[in-house]
Amino acid sequence: MCGIVGAVAQRDVADILLEGLKRLEYRGYDSAGMAVVDNQSNLQRVRRLGKVAELDDALSLQPLAGGTGIAHTRWATHGEPSERNAHPHVSSDDLAIVHNGIIENHETLRDELTAKGYEFLSETDTEVMAHLIHHELTKNKDLLSAVLAAVNQLEGAYGTVVMDRRDPSKLVAARSGSPLVVGLGIGENFLASDQLALLPVTRRFQFLEEGDVCELRRNRIDIYDRTGKKVTRKIIESDLDHDAGDKGQYRHYMLKEIHEQPDSVRNTLEGRLGDKQVLIDSFGEKAEEIFSKVRNVQIIACGTSYHAGMVARYWFEEIAGIQCNVEIASEFRYRKSFVPANSLLVTISQSGETADTLAALRLAKESGYMASLTLCNVPGSSLVRESDLAFMTRAGAEIGVASTKAFTTQLVSLLMLVAAIGRHNGMANEQEADIVKSLRLLPSVIESSLSLSKPIEAMAEAFSDKHHSLFLGRGSQYPIAMEGALKLKEISYIHAEAYAAGELKHGPLALIDNNMPVVVVAPNNELLEKLKSNMEEVRARGGLLYVFADSDARLMQGDNVEVITLNRVADVIAPIVYTIPLQLLSYYVAIIKGTDVDQPRNLAKSVTVE
Ligand code: M6R
Repeated sequence: MCGIVGAVAQRDVADILLEGLKRLEYRGYDSAGMAVVDNQSNLQRVRRLGKVAELDDALSLQPLAGGTGIAHTRWATHGEPSERNAHPHVSSDDLAIVHNGIIENHETLRDELTAKGYEFLSETDTEVMAHLIHHELTKNKDLLSAVLAAVNQLEGAYGTVVMDRRDPSKLVAARSGSPLVVGLGIGENFLASDQLALLPVTRRFQFLEEGDVCELRRNRIDIYDRTGKKVTRKIIESDLDHDAGDKGQYRHYMLKEIHEQPDSVRNTLEGRLGDKQVLIDSFGEKAEEIFSKVRNVQIIACGTSYHAGMVARYWFEEIAGIQCNVEIASEFRYRKSFVPANSLLVTISQSGETADTLAALRLAKESGYMASLTLCNVPGSSLVRESDLAFMTRAGAEIGVASTKAFTTQLVSLLMLVAAIGRHNGMANEQEADIVKSLRLLPSVIESSLSLSKPIEAMAEAFSDKHHSLFLGRGSQYPIAMEGALKLKEISYIHAEAYAAGELKHGPLALIDNNMPVVVVAPNNELLEKLKSNMEEVRARGGLLYVFADSDARLMQGDNVEVITLNRVADVIAPIVYTIPLQLLSYYVAIIKGTDVDQPRNLAKSVTVE
């Protein structure tokens, strides 16, 4: 949620900040703004409602120049999207601030600051922080001390960067609950909410930890922990591609990311498979010892990552013989749950910064879990740092808000985890060898699924005038149907619901008519005959079926039934393979509907607020 960039340099920083915002726009895109201190020590600020392109246009008419600056792309929490509510917010024309997160006690603070004479020009909680820090500056010797004093009064979450026109040699940043990373340059330094923003200017990063406050100058970076003690944070060399933020030959990031899946899966597997075994060390030094004791797995995640966890539940119980529960993080974190002995907590997250998942991990760490493991796509992210074990999914940067390659690489990682844990729970060597063989084949199988783009694009026409749809699957394909429905609703705005097909007759069948397309995921497996009966129930009521099946399923095209045939694959990897056509279907429906595929309305890529 919200993208932040900051820079202190000798050169003008406006272009660096703008490029950073473009790379962060996936985090929020309802308004954007920038402020710099010019060479007369004045604050200059430009803000615009809408996307970063609007700000770009405004800056070409009203360029900003200065070596110290901050910028922001917003996903509204307090106050509607508007220029007035866009960041940076200022206090008394001295301070400018950008913020990601939610300040929960903003109303009380607003009342106190109003009583002290501060005038509020926006509805945001961020402006409260601006005035609070300004007020603290009247009592403290410098910006750093003022920020430390102010954050001690805040309840809630913040990643924030503050600039004072009276001392433009530095920026002060603070992190609690929302990520911030320092980018190290030569004679210049940077801040951002995601390293991706800074790849054009540096590859060296320091991730701020919870409670850290940082004073950033051109030639010096000082970091203090929440007690005010000076600390050092490890410098990490990023291996992300400089071009990771480019669309390349593709019209949208989402399409690029869909087509990157054979390579992403190859990367996930690289160096982690033996001849017939998954290499347990890939999960961390202590993995062997921990996995040998695991008797129960609790998976926590949100959205698409939760769907990956749902698939893994089938795998854990069927393949590894291990009990597995899966829960949405926002539910888990607010209820008392029972923790069986020898339970492993597994969090799944593309970003590693999802507020609910992070809070659930922190809660679980106090609840008696034997150990925690995160499957995550962002090295150095909060979940990675705070978990006992971390397994990087290596999907590469995912920019499209709709998760695609992050999901399939999560599934691949989970299947490896199931094999690694199952080995200690009596799973036969041959079964593990079969999984390894199937995983090795996966990139080429995904490639052949991608070759179905054309018929899927044609199928998409049938959805363009529809308002509702159903997705059906059974067994481990039920969560794939859920993921397909999520993809369609988030980028095409067509209402889509997924059902385990056996549930149809318990209610949803009442919805069926010829305005309700029903998508079915139907590989040939032991549940196919049951699924065929469920499809007949739909057909008999005039429903329209759009079926993804394999040649062995013997499903015929016919009246009201359209079938797209995939290659036959081993059951264990079928959930991964059947994800691809559903991603393509939602993409092409969105194209026909003309929606904003990469930045669908009301959403943000990284959900760092509750
Ligand atoms: O970064 P995370 O995987 O923790 O994010 C969780 C969800 O917000 C995310 O999967 C979301 O549902 C997808 N972007 C939807 O495509």
